[in-house]
This record gives sequence, structure tokens and C-alpha cells, in this order.
Amino acid sequence: MIIILIGPPGSGKGTQSQRLIDYLETAHLSTGELFREHISSESALGCEAKQFISRGELVPDHVVDSMVVQTLEQPRFADGCLFDGYPRSVPQAEALSQLLNLQQREVTLVLELDVPDSVLVERLLARQRADDTLETIKHRLEVYGAQTRPLLEYYKQRGKLETVDGQGSVDDVFGRIQAVVNQLKTDSSESEESNPSTCSN
Ligand code: AP5
Ligand code: MG
Repeated sequence: MIIILIGPPGSGKGTQSQRLIDYLETAHLSTGELFREHISSESALGCEAKQFISRGELVPDHVVDSMVVQTLEQPRFADGCLFDGYPRSVPQAEALSQLLNLQQREVTLVLELDVPDSVLVERLLARQRADDTLETIKHRLEVYGAQTRPLLEYYKQRGKLETVDGQGSVDDVFGRIQAVVNQLKTDSSESEESNPSTCSN
């Protein structure tokens, strides 16, 4: 399975990813976490990304896409993956689609975590990550609306989008995510039973 978690800053992408990767026994790719690792190790990529992240801007697509391509080459991503915070723009979604096409794979499911802005701001101010100042949070939310929200329509048109209410306890939200994932598994096993693949030698 290739699952994408989309949601504004503070919607719980990282929190729910940790649960979902254990549940599905799949690999996790968070572009935000990869950038923070590069920033801590003071790599050239980290230095480039830091100037955008500290302002709450998106890192340019070509930088993100090449980092993702390199990361996905690792064998642990061969059987599937949970993307957290990627893709984050329509050009990134197109780049991912082309990459997966080359591997004869496709996105299985896009899960949107829906949380109102007032709750997001409260959660992020309580966390205090380097990019969690009120000014940067507000700008990250604007950037989400302008550059990432259009992805919801993009994946809706492709029949991939499911929206989950991201409010309530972490357990409540995970229960809703599990229900969507379990339904998807049931639907795909039923369709395999009614359309068994035929092999010819
Ligand atoms: P990234 O690291 O992805 O940050 P983000 O999208 O701003 O989201 P957060 O990580 O802040 O929130 P989250 O949704 O993961 O929520 P979390 O689980 O942590 O990206 C950082 C930056 O990197 C971007 O701004 C950009 O500059 C750059 N970047 C990354 N990817 C990029 C890309 N593809 N293209 C270009 N640039 C990119 O939860 C937040 C808090 O809420 C936590 O304290 C948590 O404990 C709490 N919480 C979670 N769930 C609940 C709940 N149900 N109830 C109460 N509290 C909760
Ligand atoms: Mg996160």
C-alpha cells in the first residue's frame, strides 16, 4: 500500500503516522523529519532547506523531489510506504505519480486530516518546535491553503481521497483512520475474489 497523509500543520500527520506504520508494518517517509535531520547534521541540503522552513515557506519542489527519489531507493520502501507531508503541491504530486508509474505502482489512498485552524494553532503553540512561533504558524497555514489544499481536489478527481475528522483524542482519530484502511483492505480483497488474475505461461 502507498498511503499519503495530507493535513495542515498540527493536524496530527506525524502522530497518526507512528500508529499507522506499526499497524500496517510499513515504512514512513516524512519530508519534514528528513529536513530536520539534515538541518541537525548541518548538511548542504539542511542549510538550503532551513531558510525556507524557518519562514514557514515550502522548500522548492526540485529539492524535495530529489530527496524523496533518493530516499525511496532504500529497500525498506519496496513494499509500500506512508508519506507524511509529501506531496505538498500539485507539481510534487505529478512528480510522485511519474516516479511510481516507472515502478508500475500507484498511490493506494490519500487520507486528509481535517482540523479547524483554531485547534491547530493551540496544538502547535503548546509544542514549541523551532518553526512553531505564532507568526510562522499563521504563514504555514496560509501556505497550506494556497499550495497544498488544491491537492485535495487533485486526488478527489482520481478517486483516492478520504477525509477523516482529526479532532478528538489521538485514539479517536486513529480509530477513524483504521476504519478507512480496513474498509479499503476489504474492498480490495473482494475485488480480487471476483476478478482473480489469470496467469498464462
Ligand atoms: P512538517 O514537518 O511536515 O510540518 P507541518 O506540515 O507543518 O506539520 P507538523 O509536523 O507541524 O504537524 P503534524 O500534522 O505532523 O502534527 P503532529 O502530529 O506533529 O514540515 C515542516 C516544514 O518543512 C514545512 O513548513 C516546509 O517548510 C518543509 N517541508 C516539509 N515537507 C515539504 C514538502 N513536501 N515540500 C516543501 N516543503 C516541505 O501534531 C502536532 C501537535 O499536536 C503535537 O504536539 C501533537 O502531540 C499534538 N496532537 C496531535 N494529535 C492530537 C490530538 N488528536 N489531540 C491533541 N493533540 C494532538
Ligand atoms: Mg509532522
